[in-house]
Amino acid sequence: MTKLRVGVAGLGTVGSGLVKLLLSQKSVIKERCGGPVLVTAVSAKDRARDRDFDVGKTVWHDDAVSLAKDENVDVVCELIGGAEGIALKVCEAAIGSGKHVVTANKAMLAVHGTRLAKSAEKHGVEIHYEAAVAGGIPIIKAMREGLSGNDVTGVLGILNGTCNYILTNMHDAALAGESRDFETVLDEAQRLGYAEADPSTDIDGIDAAHKLAILTSVAFGTEIDFGSIHIEGIRHISAVDIEYAIELGYRVKLLAIARKGIEGIQQRVHPGMVRERTAIAHVDGVNNGIVVQGNYAGTTIYEGPGAGGNATASAVAADLVDIARGHQTATFSVPTTRLERHSAASIDGISSPYYIRLMLVDKPGVIADIAACLRDQNVSVESMLQRSRNPGDVVPVVLTTHEAEEASIQNALNSMEHLRSVIEKPRMIRIEEI
Ligand code: HSE
Repeated sequence: MTKLRVGVAGLGTVGSGLVKLLLSQKSVIKERCGGPVLVTAVSAKDRARDRDFDVGKTVWHDDAVSLAKDENVDVVCELIGGAEGIALKVCEAAIGSGKHVVTANKAMLAVHGTRLAKSAEKHGVEIHYEAAVAGGIPIIKAMREGLSGNDVTGVLGILNGTCNYILTNMHDAALAGESRDFETVLDEAQRLGYAEADPSTDIDGIDAAHKLAILTSVAFGTEIDFGSIHIEGIRHISAVDIEYAIELGYRVKLLAIARKGIEGIQQRVHPGMVRERTAIAHVDGVNNGIVVQGNYAGTTIYEGPGAGGNATASAVAADLVDIARGHQTATFSVPTTRLERHSAASIDGISSPYYIRLMLVDKPGVIADIAACLRDQNVSVESMLQRSRNPGDVVPVVLTTHEAEEASIQNALNSMEHLRSVIEKPRMIRIEEI
């Protein structure tokens, strides 16, 4: 390779991090690629903004779409974000102009990934997106290249650092004997800059689902199907659930899970309890962690920073090095003509053990009523905890079940909710055996 000319669209945290990385790692990248990787054009909303690097002689484009068509650019790095709008236009323009695309945009890929991949194939260019899933962890490369000799049967991960920070903080507080509510920890995370001013995309599980949609496609060679993901966030996780989880030997995490079974591919994002002794239980703070099950490699685990300028820039740079080396690969593991359209397995069909917490009026016969709701659905109880005794008052009661079907649990929860002595909506957390 003589040189690779890069256009960077978006100079926020990741875009700026990339420009700085390409400057400071210039010689090592040149050695690894056999030629320099140079930023020849940039585009951002505010040209006047003070940045701690010099864009020097690079061409500035006020319009990112014009950067995408610049004939002095070989690869366009789309680091603007957002599923639609300018980011999508930039990628379409780059592909249409015969340029490779590197993007960190999970929302766009989760919605338009298959179509963009088809268009890239038609124009003979590549789309790389290591930075779109789990920031600095090279999970796409691990799955698409490192595990390419395997049938992947399942992927399970912690894909959102904001949620993991909140849940870790609640856990640490509970261990220290303090009780910290979700809202208190979220407020603090926002003040410290770990959570967005509008945190809903993160805490309601959407961000993790975008990333899961991409991982599913790479894992199983299927068209991206964001729409069929069952998504629950962490707003309803309370300090008392975290305390009971500790007592039962579990940690609560926001899990993103994709599994292939006889009924199709199951994709789900929801809080889950994982055993304290598992590696995934100890992926803490803003880190991400992913477990991949392959039929030959067995279970492999990946952990690291899931966000941040430097970590995400590292992933973008690796994609640029791949392109500079002439490494060619199908966007989602197999050519788009062979991407399968999978049938989506409903969450009603999963089976696992369950944690159920009820707020009950403490009086004789109440537990018998609860037990009847479970018996009627053929659900077997594994353990029951009632910490305090307070006749006539409200107490928390926690049950864990043996493996049961989701549909049966949902029916039982529905019946329990209608009992007069159950004074709050019952809370349920799935227990994931890894
Ligand atoms: N907001 C994401 C997170 C990082 O909290 O993990 C970017 O995807």
